[in-house]
Amino acid sequence: MKQEQGQQAQQRHEADELAAVQRILQAHENEPGALLPILHDVQDALGYIPAHTVAVIAEAQNLSRAEVHGVVTYYHHFRSAPAGRHVIQICRAEACQSMGADALLAHAELRLGCSAHGTTKDGAFTLEPAFCLGLCASSPAMTLDEQPHARMTPRAFDALLAQVAP
Ligand code: FES
Repeated sequence: MKQEQGQQAQQRHEADELAAVQRILQAHENEPGALLPILHDVQDALGYIPAHTVAVIAEAQNLSRAEVHGVVTYYHHFRSAPAGRHVIQICRAEACQSMGADALLAHAELRLGCSAHGTTKDGAFTLEPAFCLGLCASSPAMTLDEQPHARMTPRAFDALLAQVAP
């Protein structure tokens, strides 16, 4: 019984996601080559690009599923799975790398117990690499739920995490 209810809830959830994607596709109906703006809109609306919507997006853009999937996986920005409740992005571009971003990322992976592009088991945090957050003069930089934090150290990272309700 419980399993059946779970399946029904999942089906409703997927139907809602599909409806949202269809509204976005309609909004871009007369724009040829609009795959990237569509994917951005889908991610903004749903937080990720659900696999079950790739076929619909592909059909609307006269592309194959593999082509859409290729674009989703090529760009770091796009997620193929829902993010955790909090999203941490650590800059890995040149200025931040020269100021210890790799060590910061390694510390974050260890502290959270998940790798970059991963989400903690409890769904609290998603860890993502980023490529320049516009804070190069104050590197290494990161964002937590889109709020920028500059001159980060492993200790500052731990202090920041301690302030966040999981
Ligand atoms: S290089 Fe990291 S914020 Fe620009």
